Amino acid sequence: MIKTVFQAKKFIMNNKKAFIFDLDGVIVDTAKYHFLAWQKLAQQLGIEFTPEHNEQLKGVSRVRSLDIILELGGIQASQEDKNKWLIQKNDDYLSYLVDIDESEILPGVLPVLHYLKHKNQQIALGSASKNAKPILEKTGILPLFDAIVDGNDVSNAKPDPEVFIQAAKKLNATNENSIVFEDSVAGIQAANIAKMTSVGIGDSTILNEAKFIFKDFTFIDVSFIESLIN
Ligand code: BG6
Ligand code: MG
Repeated sequence: MIKTVFQAKKFIMNNKKAFIFDLDGVIVDTAKYHFLAWQKLAQQLGIEFTPEHNEQLKGVSRVRSLDIILELGGIQASQEDKNKWLIQKNDDYLSYLVDIDESEILPGVLPVLHYLKHKNQQIALGSASKNAKPILEKTGILPLFDAIVDGNDVSNAKPDPEVFIQAAKKLNATNENSIVFEDSVAGIQAANIAKMTSVGIGDSTILNEAKFIFKDFTFIDVSFIESLIN
């Protein structure tokens, strides 16, 4: 009898879905501000940095992003210089965020979040950003999240799946029952490595490893969300 109750409990836990959202470029239009801040630093260092180069930085931690830019320019730098540039980049990035509000939320995102809430589904954030919480606060959507895992919580950057695995664990969901919405190649790879369902948001030629791909959330309809829930 005890065993049966235990098994039933386990079944309920394993059946729970976790809807895990990346932040930058998925929920909010902040990817453009990261790009502008990195581009400013690259210019200062005499490194050419294009939107194509920027794709390599999406989903990638701040520290790793700087290394990629320095590699592009063939620059070797001291840790002291790197630390200075990391602070400068983040200060520039934050200066773009001073006045952000709900209008920065990307089209179609709010209806999907509200639909999931309406359907009693669990929502988590899985972001590499250390600035995630203030952004969710400023845009007014923090209360919609049941769990938050961000750049302050993880030691391994995407494509390592650590951030998504932690998010699923916080929601008591298995990896197989977790769905990840991502705009970066590294993030899609992370979700796939964890055997989660990857949903790419953006360019289908760039995100071709995703299980499903949508140009943006306005292309996601109720029947697709229902198919993920059931
Ligand atoms: C990711 C972004 O979400 O967060 C990257 O896609 C960014 O571009 C990374 O570098 C780290 O963000 P932050 O806010 O901690 O510098
Ligand atoms: Mg992103």
